[in-house]
Amino acid sequence: MAEIRDLELAKKGLEKIEWTEKDMPVLRKIQARFEKEKPLKDVKIGCCLHVTKETANLMRTLKSAGANVRLCASNPLSTQDDVTAALVKYFEIEVYAIHDEENESYYKHIDKVLEFSPQITIDDGCDLVSTIHSKYPEKCKDVFGGSEETTTGVIRLKNMLKDKELKYPIVAVNDAKTKHFFDNRYGTGQSTLDGIIRATDMLIAGSTVVIAGYGWCGRGAAMRAKGLGANIIITEVEPVKALEAKMDGFRVMKMNNAAPLGDLFITLTGDINVIDIHHIKKMKSGAILCNSGHFDVEINLKKLNKICTEKRKVREFVNEYKIDGKSIYVLAEGRLINLAAANGHPASVMDMSFANQALVAEFLCENQHRMKIDVMPVPKAIDEKVAKLKLESLNIKIDKLTPEQKKYLKSWSIGT
Ligand SMILES: NC(=O)c1ccc[n+]([C@@H]2O[C@H](COP(=O)([O-])OP(=O)(O)OC[C@H]3O[C@@H](n4cnc5c(N)ncnc54)[C@H](O)[C@@H]3O)[C@@H](O)[C@H]2O)c1
Repeated sequence: MAEIRDLELAKKGLEKIEWTEKDMPVLRKIQARFEKEKPLKDVKIGCCLHVTKETANLMRTLKSAGANVRLCASNPLSTQDDVTAALVKYFEIEVYAIHDEENESYYKHIDKVLEFSPQITIDDGCDLVSTIHSKYPEKCKDVFGGSEETTTGVIRLKNMLKDKELKYPIVAVNDAKTKHFFDNRYGTGQSTLDGIIRATDMLIAGSTVVIAGYGWCGRGAAMRAKGLGANIIITEVEPVKALEAKMDGFRVMKMNNAAPLGDLFITLTGDINVIDIHHIKKMKSGAILCNSGHFDVEINLKKLNKICTEKRKVREFVNEYKIDGKSIYVLAEGRLINLAAANGHPASVMDMSFANQALVAEFLCENQHRMKIDVMPVPKAIDEKVAKLKLESLNIKIDKLTPEQKKYLKSWSIGT
């Protein structure tokens, strides 16, 4: 059983999955070991992830470990229908995801994954975990652990833990160094600009780009927009991050002051109403707004939809809103622009994120019933293993500490 758009698209999806595989050498290596050792034999894994060609390769890896896998989408706009078709037809994986599905269908598909009573959950944004806790609490006892892919999901899980609502242990894959240093920074950085350019065809050089949030994703986007010749303005709420942005060479100011200056606005905060109506009212006619943070709440579209005098789709991924006689353009309905209008992160960074996911699934299985309920970091050994394998795949060799250096670094007596 599966619910996807069209099985006829499978061949195109297979080509994409195979093309991606070549840039995922770490995951391939893990898959080859899993194939022999079957560390997840008969384990039921429920996944709620962006259904992309890279995710398809993670599904193959889990399956080769002996797991039974069900997959639904973690965002209605990021699903690649040809990839879902290939997963069903060629890899016999149960997929419940349709590009641009309504909220009702999105949550029905999460239900389908949970009806299968997963023993491990792999989530991106915490919708799967929050649904199992609120709608199917009795199923939580069968889950021996979960993992979370993104910053927003980790924040939600920590809030569940604080409220004593979390019922099984979760590993915060997002927080692995080999995940957020690369995926959030270089992956989101490149693919966000890619999505904006595909949606608008705009020239970035010479334009003023306002980036809200100078975390891992925000700095990646700022780095890439700067490379394309933009003048960057950063808005922040954390003093240290604001200072880093300043010393990285960017202007830093309040959104209120940036609003009249920007040609393009990108939110990457994981926060709500970072661009609000009072900001939009100050913007130039023609300003373009988009979001690459996890949820579509960073721009106050609810209110914009209410107070605009006219709204119309002017091209794919672009809605024009008329407000106070000005035109304001919003991309991809405020959803992740990099996954909606482009193809998400390049496979080479997802290689590390999903290598962490595969090894964490194995870790959860090995340590079932031995972990306390917590939102815990990825074990250091896994993080370092992924880094080593990635370096190996890039044919990069690095120095090793000599015995003398090891001794020196553990000592305190040698000074000037
Ligand atoms: N598009 C993607 O593919 C993708 C990939 C990874 C993460 N994400 C999502 O992107 C978001 C950011 O992730 P991150 O890893 O960069 O998080 P982060 O915690 O490293 O950075 C977020 C930054 O936003 C700042 N911020 C919060 N509220 C703000 C406000 N009102 N105004 C200005 N700045 C504000 C915070 O101070 C912080 O520095 C999250 O929702 C995450 O889940 C998206």
